[in-house]
Amino acid sequence: MTEQFHDTTLSDQALDQIFREARSYNGWHDKEVSEGQIKAIYELLKMGPTSANQQPGRFIWCKSQDAKDRLAGHADEGNKEKVKTAPVCVIIGYDTEFHDQLPWLFPHADAKSWFEGDKEKRQTNAFRNSALQGAYLMIAARALGLDCGPMSGVDLDAVTKDFFADEPNYKADWICSIGYGDKSTIFERSPRPDFDKFNSIA
Ligand SMILES: Cc1cc2nc3c(=O)[nH]c(=O)nc-3n(C[C@H](O)[C@H](O)[C@H](O)COP(=O)(O)O)c2cc1C
Repeated sequence: MTEQFHDTTLSDQALDQIFREARSYNGWHDKEVSEGQIKAIYELLKMGPTSANQQPGRFIWCKSQDAKDRLAGHADEGNKEKVKTAPVCVIIGYDTEFHDQLPWLFPHADAKSWFEGDKEKRQTNAFRNSALQGAYLMIAARALGLDCGPMSGVDLDAVTKDFFADEPNYKADWICSIGYGDKSTIFERSPRPDFDKFNSIA
C-alpha cells in the first residue's frame, strides 16, 4: 500500500498501472490503437513541464504498416519485429530551432532571445526537454491503459533523414512502440535500486 500523503494521492491501482506493474514490452496483442487514442496521449503529454514551455518534442506516430516497415528498416536487428508488429510506433524527435516558437509558447518574456546565436544551448535544451516529453508520453499512454516499448537501438541519422526530410532542424532521438503488451514477450523484472543506493536527502 502506498502511504497517503495527501487526499489527492492516486489509488494503488493507478500507481500499479503507471509504474509498479507497467513493463517495457517486446511483443504486442493484435489490437488496434486508434487515432483518437494517439491524440489523447498527446493531449496529456503536452501538459508536462518543459523549460520556458519550449515544447521541443516533435513526434511522428507510425501507424500504417508502410510507415512501421520503413521505420523497422532503420532499427537494429533485434528491434525490427518490435516495430513492425506494434499497433503504433512513435518517433520522438526534437527541433533544434524550437526557440522560433517561443514568442507564442512563452509570451510573458522574450525567451526567444535567450537562445539566439547559441546552437549548443539549444541542442542541450531541446535534448533535455524532448526526453522529458517522451517520458510524459509513456506515462500518459500507461495512464490511458496502453503499454509502451521504448527503443534507442535504431540508426537515428537514418530515421532523421527518412522521416524528418522536410525539417532540416529536427533530429530523431528514440522510438517507442505503443499497444497492448503481450506478457509472454518479457523477461522477469530487472532489479531497481533502493532509495539509499543512489539518493541522499541534503
Ligand atoms: C530510452 C530507452 C531506450 C531503450 N532501448 C531499447 C532497445 O533498443 N531495445 C530494447 O529491446 N529495449 C530497449 N529499452 C527497454 C529497456 O531495456 C527497459 O525499459 C528496461 O530494461 C526496463 O524494463 P521494464 O520497464 O520492463 O522494467 C529502452 C528503454 C529506454 C527507456
